[in-house]
Amino acid sequence: MSSITRAPRIPGRRFLHSPGPTPVPEAVLHAMSMQPMDLGDPRVDAVIASCETGLKRLLQTRADSDVFMYAANGHGAWEAVIENLADRGQAVLVPGTGHFSESWAIQTEALGRRVLRTPWNEGWPIDADAIEQTLRDDRDHTVKAVFAVHTDTSSGVTSDLAAIRRAIENARHPALLVADVVASLGAAPFAMDELGVDVALGASQKGLMCPPGVAFVAVNQRALAQAQGNPAPRFYWDWVRRKSEISYRKFCGTAPQNLLMGLEAALNLIFHEGLEAVHARHAALAGAVHAAVEGWAGGGELGFFARTPACRSVSVTTITVPPGTDVDALRNVARERFQVAIAGALGPLQGRGFRIGHLGDCNPAMILGAIAGVEAALSVQGIAVGEGGTRRALMALAGR
Ligand SMILES: Cc1ncc(COP(=O)(O)O)c(C=O)c1O
Repeated sequence: MSSITRAPRIPGRRFLHSPGPTPVPEAVLHAMSMQPMDLGDPRVDAVIASCETGLKRLLQTRADSDVFMYAANGHGAWEAVIENLADRGQAVLVPGTGHFSESWAIQTEALGRRVLRTPWNEGWPIDADAIEQTLRDDRDHTVKAVFAVHTDTSSGVTSDLAAIRRAIENARHPALLVADVVASLGAAPFAMDELGVDVALGASQKGLMCPPGVAFVAVNQRALAQAQGNPAPRFYWDWVRRKSEISYRKFCGTAPQNLLMGLEAALNLIFHEGLEAVHARHAALAGAVHAAVEGWAGGGELGFFARTPACRSVSVTTITVPPGTDVDALRNVARERFQVAIAGALGPLQGRGFRIGHLGDCNPAMILGAIAGVEAALSVQGIAVGEGGTRRALMALAGR
């Protein structure tokens, strides 16, 4: 056992500011702490139905869309769309957003599908013109779907899904639009039908304030028809097989009942607060973090990875560090000494930055505590922070 796992219990609460998993509200923890039920208990069906209805409402999609949930993580939802929407040897287009687009592309190729990519421009959102050009060049319509990551959680950049839909239309291409809203749902506005998104996929552990373990997809009629016509062999992920009124079939086996009880409670919390209020809260908290980073940047060593304020995510902020910075050491000091858990940057950004998550069950006091803790850890590590990062965050939240 390492000295960290043997360390005595910390007083107070450690602030979890990774961009997922995120803190789980008491109401969700309580909802999950129930005995499981027998598979024939109608309460199981009721919880599942409530989650389906709630997810449709959250995703803002029509009643005739289908929601399929999995005992899985976000990679499971990725696998579900790959297996259902394209046959082996068929192609999909994955616009570059950084680590998460590339991971999804690699998984798609590993499953025998072809991947076309548009370039990733570091710090910038998805290039819709490049999508349009790639689809125009695909005269035989071999591309079955565009797999777009809404918020790339590594770079902290959010892309414009409406622009991607317009690009597909401009190219007069029949490809479906699939949006990964794993990091944005429940934080940033998203309206599946209005945006012309055919499939949206997400997971429980970020804006939905639940532990990891439930992944989901919402599928419109057009996408379901494509899945129905897709001969690719599949079983667990298969939407056609899961389209059933029987819970056991909906989940291809036993449903993760307690996680679903938590998800139901979390959705209720979101609707009780009101979707607009939830989005406004995330925008305000993100604004406070951005204000702090602007202050820190004055020290000449830190900066935003996202190149323009417009594409900065409301869920997570990626902060660049000078070359040679020991990001893991910074995270350790922040977590073990100041009780603020932050994340490192991933994939091509690894070692070049750290990330502060500000999504889910989060409020101004938590954000101020997190910012102050990070500022303290930066100071301990000898990284120059400009004057007044925490003060700027405070003033942003105070509306001054
Ligand atoms: C945008 C995005 N998509 C997909 C994933 C993969 O999710 P998971 O780690 O639950 O498999 C993540 C994980 O952070 C993510 O941020």
